[in-house]
Amino acid sequence: MKIHVVENYDEMSREAADILADIVKNKPDCVLGLATGDTPIGMYECLVRMYEAGELDFSAVRSVNLDEYYPISPDNDQSYRYFMNKHLFDKVNIDKANTNVPNGRAEDADVFCREYENTINKLGGMDVQVLGIGRNGHIGFNEPETELKPYTHLTELTESTIEANARFFESEADVPKHALTMGIRSIFKARNIVILASGVEKAEAVKTMLSGNISTLCPASLLCLHPSVTLICDKAAYSLV
Ligand code: F6R
Repeated sequence: MKIHVVENYDEMSREAADILADIVKNKPDCVLGLATGDTPIGMYECLVRMYEAGELDFSAVRSVNLDEYYPISPDNDQSYRYFMNKHLFDKVNIDKANTNVPNGRAEDADVFCREYENTINKLGGMDVQVLGIGRNGHIGFNEPETELKPYTHLTELTESTIEANARFFESEADVPKHALTMGIRSIFKARNIVILASGVEKAEAVKTMLSGNISTLCPASLLCLHPSVTLICDKAAYSLV
């Protein structure tokens, strides 16, 4: 794993955006694996600025997102589809037909998950997958468990994640209790992975991820098994390593 420790959130965002921008420039029809949450917002802002400056063209780019709450409607302002439209898709010239976010309204979640995995396969995997890290070491919605599911699946959120995500909802009770998420094997279909971490509240998770031990109890630690991972981490998130 390559580790870049940067000064702060803005520097992390710029570095991550530069990596994605290079991929888009070198391969205009690349497949971007995207994430939501607070962490990548600055990266999306940088990408939008590059697009507005005429440096980037998203017209042939394809994308697949990591996860989505379940059930949730795509026009719910807390859905990840809504988030992606707001922070990136509505602000650049990507063709929405080429964007994939798990369907929070799928009638049969298991059938949908199999289809989503097929979509990833048909796209030939991701050129890059962007990840954030949960305070408990989760990636996507792969929560710490003794066993993890390899492919896209329906999962139950842990109390820690519900609590962390409650800030986006009116109350903790409104946070959906389930999500559709790529599994670890789906994430590993990416040829490159960029994992971002910012802030002291991620320091414990970053420390465990980099401990040298690999455990499903810290899903991010499994990234050590992937051949091309870059961690971009600010000083606060790196402070316990
Ligand atoms: C988001 C996702 C989650 C977040 C993680 C960190 O698509 O899959 O794993 O990356 O919960 O969230 P933030 O960035 O809000 O701290």
